[in-house]
Amino acid sequence: MLRQWQRTWVLQFFILSATLNGKSLADKPETFIRSGPKLTWISDVVSEKLSNFRTQSQSNELCNQQIDSYEKSLRNLTLWALQMKEASAVSTPGMLVGQRFHLGHFDECVAIRHSKLAGRYCLAHLKVSPSPAMYPGFYTEPLKTVEPPPDSNAWETLKPNSNWFRMDRTDLFMALCVPGACSRHDVEETLNVTFANVTQEHGINVKIQMHDDLCTSSLDDEPMSYASKTLLCILVILSVLCLLATLYQLSTSNAIQETPKKDTLPRRIIMSFSIARNLGKVVPETNDDHMVILDLLKASAAFGVMFGHRFACMLFYMVFNVSFFESQVKKDLPLFMPTLVVESFFIVAGFLTFQSCYEPVRKQGLKVIPLMIFNRWLRLMPSFMMLVAITALLLPYLS
Ligand SMILES: *[C@@H]1O[C@H](CO)[C@@H](O)[C@H](O)[C@H]1NC(C)=O
Ligand SMILES: *[C@@H]1O[C@H](CO)[C@@H](O)[C@H](O)[C@H]1NC(C)=O
Ligand SMILES: *[C@@H]1O[C@H](CO)[C@@H](O)[C@H](O)[C@H]1NC(C)=O
Repeated sequence: MLRQWQRTWVLQFFILSATLNGKSLADKPETFIRSGPKLTWISDVVSEKLSNFRTQSQSNELCNQQIDSYEKSLRNLTLWALQMKEASAVSTPGMLVGQRFHLGHFDECVAIRHSKLAGRYCLAHLKVSPSPAMYPGFYTEPLKTVEPPPDSNAWETLKPNSNWFRMDRTDLFMALCVPGACSRHDVEETLNVTFANVTQEHGINVKIQMHDDLCTSSLDDEPMSYASKTLLCILVILSVLCLLATLYQLSTSNAIQETPKKDTLPRRIIMSFSIARNLGKVVPETNDDHMVILDLLKASAAFGVMFGHRFACMLFYMVFNVSFFESQVKKDLPLFMPTLVVESFFIVAGFLTFQSCYEPVRKQGLKVIPLMIFNRWLRLMPSFMMLVAITALLLPYLS
């Protein structure tokens, strides 16, 4: 019974003191809110400088006017101005694990249209490093491990590294959404001024680099160039030719094998465009079945290489977790070893090349080799050039 009482008293005392404590803390809220000393870390400095970034041009008056209008519209929460602010990146989450791209929102930025004003999306490249006075260790010797120990200085993570696969973490790509009249040059100039005294203030060197191609607005959409129009015409003509030739072949050849038609020159030219005939030629009928497995291996390795590159372009560079990837490479997991796929491709391709070269070389000697190389070149170059032309001339217009 006594113990019960004691317990109750102890509990009551506890609650009372906690209430009193809380009350006294609530009376003095400033002791609750701790504002420690200002950090001089990259993300803080970049956030501070970019969150109120306004382009200011020496020569471009229209840019300054639009910035003025942006500033005013921002104060009364006009939608387009807030979209412009929101589409810019101001913080650098994940930069210690290798997140270098801080992309804001491209679509939101270039969609902004308001009377004569449009959004311009620029990606600025910031190269950061500590000044030698700030962290001399950065310049002495490279980091040997993939991840520095948790109790080391954060600059260790950004140090040059002796592992070939470890990505450089000193590059930052920050999205800036500015009024369309401001050019790449204006933005770069303002960034240079904005970050000019960061070295003295915070001991961090920031070098700015920008590229015209990474600064676009719907205002600079140009009409299609002549080269692109010509290429488009050629592609349309070729497609129509293929279609017509295929229809021609299908209509003239019967399922029942009749005596083959005379192969006149016009007919041969038309047939070379036929899709049905060319598809049949891609998969030749071969007698040596045991080599088919090599073809299959080569095809799957080629597919792996293509998939890897596509995947890398789509996801890796922009949003992937670099540290995770690096730790997996260290464990030599086959899935993460890009060299494995590429090497299988080359080894299998080597066997297959030997197989196709051996007979001709045995019969006609080494002099056929240049001819074979030329033959291969002739086979690949037209389609490769066409691919390059499409990428350079047509893809940019697909937005
Ligand atoms: C905000 O202010 C600007 C200029 O000061 C004015 O033109 C605009 O109509 C205002 N917009 C809103 C939504 O109040
Ligand atoms: C900004 O500074 C970089 C060097 O840090 C320089 O190469 C570039 O030309 C400068 N840009 C402008 C517009 O002044
Ligand atoms: C750096 O520049 C800002 C604004 O441009 C200024 O307010 C600040 O005083 C400068 N700091 C130093 C150390 O010069």
